[in-house]
Amino acid sequence: MVQIHQERCIGCGLCAKDCIAVNIQITEGKARVLGECLACGHCVAICPQYAVSIPEFDMADITDIGTALQADALLQVIKSRRSIRDYRAEKIEQEKLERLAQAGRYTATAKNTQGCRFVFVQDELESFKAMIWEAVEKAVETNYLPPEVAPAMMDNYKRFLKLRQQTPSIDYLFRNAPAVLFIGANTPVDAGLAAQNIELMATAQGLGVLYNGFLNYTIELTAELKQWLGLADKKSYVCMLLGYPAVQYKRTAPHKPADSIWR
Ligand SMILES: Cc1cc2nc3c(=O)[nH]c(=O)nc-3n(C[C@H](O)[C@H](O)[C@H](O)COP(=O)(O)O)c2cc1C
Repeated sequence: MVQIHQERCIGCGLCAKDCIAVNIQITEGKARVLGECLACGHCVAICPQYAVSIPEFDMADITDIGTALQADALLQVIKSRRSIRDYRAEKIEQEKLERLAQAGRYTATAKNTQGCRFVFVQDELESFKAMIWEAVEKAVETNYLPPEVAPAMMDNYKRFLKLRQQTPSIDYLFRNAPAVLFIGANTPVDAGLAAQNIELMATAQGLGVLYNGFLNYTIELTAELKQWLGLADKKSYVCMLLGYPAVQYKRTAPHKPADSIWR
């Protein structure tokens, strides 16, 4: 629950005005909390006196807001981001992976549930790959996939198995990526927003990503894999390959004009 440190509060009312839950009132020149709320933390972020805290969270993690990002520089990063389909055989440093998790963690979530789980597989990637191929082989052998997706996905499974048999040296599924990330979440939008911030942070750190619907589908289909990943209690909405790009793009790629309506 939100706490107001009365000795610091100057009763300016900024927290009350910004509170979406109307959970703070100014009485006798001080902010007072009325009850529980979704703990969005806006009151903490807006207070000029550092008078607000939410003890459930690590308050030492709070930082002052620095210089604003340059709009043109941000747009250039967004334009320069590419899906990476070939990776160097180089592990990703732990600190870089942790920064990706931070980028995901600070993303907006519906009802402020902060319910995304980020599962990074790097050290145990070879075991994970073996389990994925086992699941694919089993689906093809038994010729069974859930009806809503069966025909298209079964074709994909057969195609990947055939390619693997023909050229075992080529990693069609993982594209030599040293790591994979799954995002379990409460809603697909929560997962997608976190994924986009993570992708931008990856780009800023010299890394690349590739969304992989095939892998995500396969783990959603296979209870043992979900258990192994620590995602048994969540739906995984996003899978992305991660690593240092083995390709270098020299310019941005053409895009359709924005489909915008101005009124
Ligand atoms: C949700 C989603 C799923 C995707 N799945 C795949 C995939 O399975 N394999 C693949 O090669 N690319 C995949 N992509 C990448 C798109 O093909 C790519 O974004 C598009 O061709 C534009 O290229 P760019 O990302 O380099 O701008 C996916 C992208 C998104 C957003």
